[in-house]
Amino acid sequence: MSPNVELLELALRDEARARDPWQRPEQVIEWLALRGEETVVDLGAGTGYFSYRIARALPRGKVLAVEPDAELRALIQAQARHHQLPIQVEAQAPAAAERVFACNMLRHLNLGQGPECDHWVVIDFDPERAPELAEVPPRAHLQTIAQVEAQLPGHRRVITRALPRQYYLELSRQA
Ligand SMILES: C[S@@+](CC[C@H](N)C(=O)[O-])C[C@H]1O[C@@H](n2cnc3c(N)ncnc32)[C@H](O)[C@@H]1O
Repeated sequence: MSPNVELLELALRDEARARDPWQRPEQVIEWLALRGEETVVDLGAGTGYFSYRIARALPRGKVLAVEPDAELRALIQAQARHHQLPIQVEAQAPAAAERVFACNMLRHLNLGQGPECDHWVVIDFDPERAPELAEVPPRAHLQTIAQVEAQLPGHRRVITRALPRQYYLELSRQA
């Protein structure tokens, strides 16, 4: 059975209301500086919070939303269809990617097990600054920037920015 799009919209609006003030999605999309023709892998897409926003910035490209949870995949698929967004939903990551976006994923996956990719964007909770709230993983699960870098040997950090609770990192493969 396909999900009820109106109920999904309400749930996504609630998520946005709670999350936008600290996640700052518009700022993140600006930082991504997309050309508009890329294929961006949203690794661990969840509800698609960023997949939709990235897809809207890709008039000639697409988002590959990778999400192992079947219900979440159905949710993203329904939203993508309803809003005619260029999103392809997959249960598994491809072997290689042009660009990977990984937000709030570090407690699920070591990035070294992700796709081969020259350019990564990683957003996650900064153990130095994240408050102890229900939506923040326990401190023991948070990774420092140095721990993220260690997961992607051969890449170097080219951009570091700060969101209210999180770091935003861009890592590129060294020439
Ligand atoms: C905390 S959520 C973050 C979702 C999304 N990135 C966001 O910021 O809204 C982490 C997601 O990663 C997914 N996940 C878990 N293991 C994964 C894996 N090995 N590869 C890709 N996604 C995975 C989970 O099912 C979950 O939906």
